[in-house]
Amino acid sequence: MHNKTNGILTIVGAGPGDPELITLKAIRAIEQADVILYDALVNPVLLKHNTLGKHYFVGKRKGEHSFKQSEINTMLVDFVLEGKNVVRLKGGDVSVFARAAEEIAHAERFGIIATLIPGISSFAGIAATHRIPLTRRCQYESIWVTTGYTCDGKPSEDIAHAAQSSATVVILMGITHLEEIVSIFSTHKSADYPIGIVQNGTLPNEKWVTGTLSTIVSRVIEEGVSNPATIFVGPAVNDPTTLWNVQKEIQYA
Ligand SMILES: C[S@@+](CC[C@H](N)C(=O)[O-])C[C@H]1O[C@@H](n2cnc3c(N)ncnc32)[C@H](O)[C@@H]1O
Repeated sequence: MHNKTNGILTIVGAGPGDPELITLKAIRAIEQADVILYDALVNPVLLKHNTLGKHYFVGKRKGEHSFKQSEINTMLVDFVLEGKNVVRLKGGDVSVFARAAEEIAHAERFGIIATLIPGISSFAGIAATHRIPLTRRCQYESIWVTTGYTCDGKPSEDIAHAAQSSATVVILMGITHLEEIVSIFSTHKSADYPIGIVQNGTLPNEKWVTGTLSTIVSRVIEEGVSNPATIFVGPAVNDPTTLWNVQKEIQYA
């Protein structure tokens, strides 16, 4: 516990979903927290590591009040100024589409310097568990991670740039714009260019589909794949090492 004048703020990456895919540093921070503010993509099992603190869900869930970023910023600062050891727990990694920068900047206005603890980003956790070599020596030279749409609700212009590259392209928050994304890629790549999509990656309720630019939209509809999902595009998706090419099942915790 910390005294009234000594609250702290730690922004922690909770990993992609499997509650064992988290760092020891993150677990220690969770154990010691007086207050935890957590998002929808954080596995709630992780909260069992904290028996004494208070836990606030601040994510978005269908039919529930969802907190605005400004409300979360205010809660974080208020708790720290009350002297609390505050953990802000986020899905995946804290530096990948996590809005940590806004929380850090707001806290700094009150003289609070946040500490960040990295997590395994969903795209990296999913790629590894599905044995997708995002890079491979002499074959796939880079990874391009982008969002499906920007803060103004439009598809990111980077998708068109990425589609012209030879990078393994990873798109987060893109499943609801899949048709648009496929049509952008189709301008630059052939109809048989590989694409794979994973929903609830690293969790027991995981779903995944693979296909090509010409088949993926109907495959997604057939399999009922929806949010949260990550889209992988490029030859790495069809590498001989991938799980879908060797037809193995994954057992998750
Ligand atoms: C707001 S972003 C947060 C990303 C997070 N900071 C990270 O490093 O993974 C949320 C998006 O991440 C992706 N995502 C997060 N967890 C996922 C999971 N378990 N399976 C598939 N996609 C996931 C989805 O694209 C989802 O819409």
